Formats: sequence, structure tokens, C-alpha cells
Amino acid sequence: MSNSYSSVWITGGSKGIGRSLVEVLAPRSEQIFVSARQSTALQDATQSNSIHAIPFDANDQQSIIAAQRRVAQQADFIDLLVVNAGICEYFDSHSLSSEIAERVMHVNYTASVQLIEAALPLLRAAVRAGKKPKISVISSSIVFLPLPRSAAYAASKAALTQFCEALRYDLANEGIDLQLVFPGFVATPLTDQNDFDMPFKISSGEAAERIVKGLDQGKANLQFPKRFTFWLVAIDSLPASIKSWLLRKMSPIKNLKRDDHESKA
Ligand SMILES: NC(=O)c1ccc[n+]([C@@H]2O[C@H](COP(=O)([O-])OP(=O)(O)OC[C@H]3O[C@@H](n4cnc5c(N)ncnc54)[C@H](OP(=O)(O)O)[C@@H]3O)[C@@H](O)[C@H]2O)c1
Repeated sequence: MSNSYSSVWITGGSKGIGRSLVEVLAPRSEQIFVSARQSTALQDATQSNSIHAIPFDANDQQSIIAAQRRVAQQADFIDLLVVNAGICEYFDSHSLSSEIAERVMHVNYTASVQLIEAALPLLRAAVRAGKKPKISVISSSIVFLPLPRSAAYAASKAALTQFCEALRYDLANEGIDLQLVFPGFVATPLTDQNDFDMPFKISSGEAAERIVKGLDQGKANLQFPKRFTFWLVAIDSLPASIKSWLLRKMSPIKNLKRDDHESKA
């Protein structure tokens, strides 16, 4: 059965997966609120009368609260919240940066928590209105197998995933469903910057279709494409020595000998 929605709020809806979600959800939603930083892309994504631009910056909690107030002025409740805004930055052991790790953690984890906190009163209002509201949180398949260079991103998505896993049972008892989504590689402006092969990459349109279908089917955890996540889980369950051999081959850092370390010291 295809769900229809009264009021949907999608963060990171100006491009990539979020933008495709706006397009897929538009025919089955009375109104959609689309959040991202103020940009031409956000204006482009909100050309229809029923799609509203609600700018916010995930780095600024006050702007998340202000965005919630703007949504609340236009909707009595939200029956679908899509927590999608996110960033990805890579480093290896030589370029390790706590500043990058903190930035990625803030946008992907802290701001997502702040958003859920801000949106909860509107989701509870949907329950009171007799709806069955949902939260869809876009995590990543990186949580199945953290790969070299992805330390900051993997940590942020693991934190988000664990937070949501623990929270979902309280929310279920309140009448609010929480879906976790674990995409593999999706062609978006985010992955356009990657300088490595991305096996089984799918389009953002296909990703959006799968997320919306997963919501229709009431899937609590949704991973795709399975032909990619299967390999991640399989490699993760290999004996530690074989897994280490494989992942060290993927590391950009050469296999340094003790002498190399001494000459670099
Ligand atoms: N693409 C993939 O292969 C892939 C795989 C697994 C998971 N994911 C996850 O899917 C989500 C969407 O990724 P995507 O590939 O569609 O990325 P994208 O094309 O770069 O889009 C990211 C969205 O987030 C918004 N955003 C970024 N920083 C923000 C900030 N500080 N404040 C408010 N909005 C901000 C962007 O808008 P502005 O920049 O205009 O603010 C944009 O709308 C992310 O959570 C990502 O981690 C992606």
C-alpha cells in the first residue's frame, strides 16, 4: 500500500538523495517543507506552491529551532520527518584532523539529534490528530564495515545509528515509527567528489524510490543495494587476519617498516 502524507519535513532536500525524495514524495504529500542552507539549489527544489523552503544551517541550533517555528506556523503537525542532511570528509592517518572529525560529527550526529528534538512536538501532534507519524533517518552502509579514510564519517553515522536504535522503542510506544536507512553508494554531489571506484552505485532517484517503498512496507531497517551491503557484511565477518589484510590493501598509507618510521621521526 502506498502511504500518503499531510505534512513532510525533509532536511538536505536541496540536492542529492533529499532532492530526489522531494520529487518522489510530492505527488503523495499535501505539503513538503524542505530544509538546507540558503542557496539557489534550495530555491530550485521548492518551485511548487505545496513545497516550502525552510532554510537552516545544521551548524547552528538556533536556526534549527527557528526552522521548526516556521514549519509549525504552516502545519498543525508533521507526519513524516526525513533526517537526511549530511556531509562526508575523508582523512588518513597522516592527514588525521580532529577539526574535520568534529565538523562531520556535528552535522551528521549532533544536528540530527537537535532536529529530532525540535520536530518531536510536531510528530506528537500528528499522533493526537490520529496519524501514524514516521521518522526516516539516513544513516549509511559504512556502519557495516568502516573503510580506510572514512573514520570521521563512519563514527558520525555509527553514533547516529546507535542513538536512533536506542530511541526507536520509546518512540514506538508513543506511536511514532523510526526507520533507519543504510544506503550504499548513490550518485549525488557528495559522491561526485570521491576519487575512488564506487561499486554498485545507484542513482539518487532509485535511492529515493527505495526509501519511500521501505516506508510503505513499514521497514524499520532498510539497506540497499543488497548486492553491495552483502559484501560489506561478509568482509566484516571474515577472520580478523584476512579482514585486516584486505583493508590494509585499501589504505592509502604504505606499509611502513620500523626504519621508515625512524627516518620520518
Ligand atoms: N551519496 C551517497 O552515496 C550516500 C551513501 C550513504 C549515505 N548517504 C547519506 O545521505 C544523506 C544525503 O547525502 P547526499 O549524497 O544526497 O549528499 P549531498 O548531495 O551533498 O546533499 C546533502 C544535503 O545536505 C545539506 N546540508 C549539508 N550541510 C548542511 C548544513 N550545514 N546545514 C543544512 N543542510 C546541510 C545540503 O544542502 P546545502 O549544502 O545547500 O546546505 C544538501 O541538501 C547524507 O546524510 C549522507 O551521509 C549518502
